[in-house]
Amino acid sequence: MKQMIIEGNKTLTGEILIGGAKNSAVALIPASILADGKSILDNVPNISDRDALIDILEILNCDVTLDKDHLEIDTTNLKNTVIDEEHSRKLRASYYFMGALLGKEKYVEIYIPGGCNIGARPIDIHIEGFKALGAEVKTEGNKYILKADKLRGTDIYLRFQSVGATINLMFASVLAEGKTVIHNAAKEAEIENIADYLISMGAKIEGAGTDDITIYGVEKLHGGKITVIPDRIEAGTYIILGALVGKNLCIKNIIPKHLEALTSKLKDMASDITINKDNIVISKVDNLKPTNIKTLVYPGFPTDIGQPMAVLLTQANGTSLFEETIWENRMGHVPSLNKMGANITVKGMSSMTIGPSKLHGCEVVATDLRGGASLVLAGLTATGTTIINDVEHILRGYEDIDIKLKNVGAKIEIREI
Ligand code: EPZ
Repeated sequence: MKQMIIEGNKTLTGEILIGGAKNSAVALIPASILADGKSILDNVPNISDRDALIDILEILNCDVTLDKDHLEIDTTNLKNTVIDEEHSRKLRASYYFMGALLGKEKYVEIYIPGGCNIGARPIDIHIEGFKALGAEVKTEGNKYILKADKLRGTDIYLRFQSVGATINLMFASVLAEGKTVIHNAAKEAEIENIADYLISMGAKIEGAGTDDITIYGVEKLHGGKITVIPDRIEAGTYIILGALVGKNLCIKNIIPKHLEALTSKLKDMASDITINKDNIVISKVDNLKPTNIKTLVYPGFPTDIGQPMAVLLTQANGTSLFEETIWENRMGHVPSLNKMGANITVKGMSSMTIGPSKLHGCEVVATDLRGGASLVLAGLTATGTTIINDVEHILRGYEDIDIKLKNVGAKIEIREI
């Protein structure tokens, strides 16, 4: 088990370089299965979810070479289409092998995926879509068996704009016969990055990033090439950190357009924020205004930034209301923040924060990835020492977090216990 120790209340200044987007990379890596031959990915983040997906590729007998953020995946020797329970459960994104293997091999055996405990996380929309394309889907205990003689393009309406289902159905339809239209598709920035990768392999996709994505099936895909877009959630987390303890903290290598929901909120709160072409510079101010936030699908306020933002609300002068609309169990960080001195009351999927609160360090537990990130922000803001247990949750999605924070003046260590 890993533990993080933070000596808080230090002013952070300098530059934090943002890595490739976790939620893009975890789909781009499985997407490589769809190509015949070698594909190349650049700007792949150094996170444990990446390693878990590479392990699965190796089980499938793909050849994988990783050199820093450069990943090459060769599917020439692909032979296996069965992913065991242990590897399926290591992360949520293992489910992208459903669409990718079904699309390529027309057969996959895989178990219920893992991932953060932030709600029920059903995959019924994915399954309905696979069936609409002509797949037969069987379950045996925790195992899914998906097979098809042939996949045929069709019209699929998603009852919710699910990120995962949109991506999985793109994967299952790029090699299907004829035209597929995914209606009410998710529009997250990552969807366009993934479509661009498939297009680089020879796929015919129109409308990614809009409500309707049209896919014209092709017979084969060749090796592709993509650069993973910057991680807007990692960036958002550090931008909030700048508002908490920054002095001209510069968050670099970002696409500001992907962060507009956050930056417009920070402006409403009277933060000291400057938005440049590919970076944002932010400093702490004393009179932060409270605000109300409701999470929404992209381009609304991202659910994944809700937990880091909870820390900033504890420092605003007055009462802020927060409403989560995507995941029913995304308040795991609140008991720890309250233990550190915050005044947050939770009712169902909503919370009320009365600020400002003086946070003090103590021993807390990361319950999930973004909840864990919020504890890091709180620890860096608090006086005294904060000890965060179960840091593995955080390392799933934040590359080199200790190194990046040390570089801007934080006192932070990760140790094995
Ligand atoms: C992706 O999850 C991200 N994960 C999540 O990030 C993110 O919170 C979420 O999108 C929303 O932006 C990855 O990309 C690996 P959804 P995903 O399908 O695809 C319901 C993080 O912290 N739903 O858009 O699983 C579901 O229960 C993680 O980085 C169904 O009912 O999210 C939820 O309420 C956490 N049936 C809503 O839709 C389905 O078949 C949104 O889920 C699928 C989803």
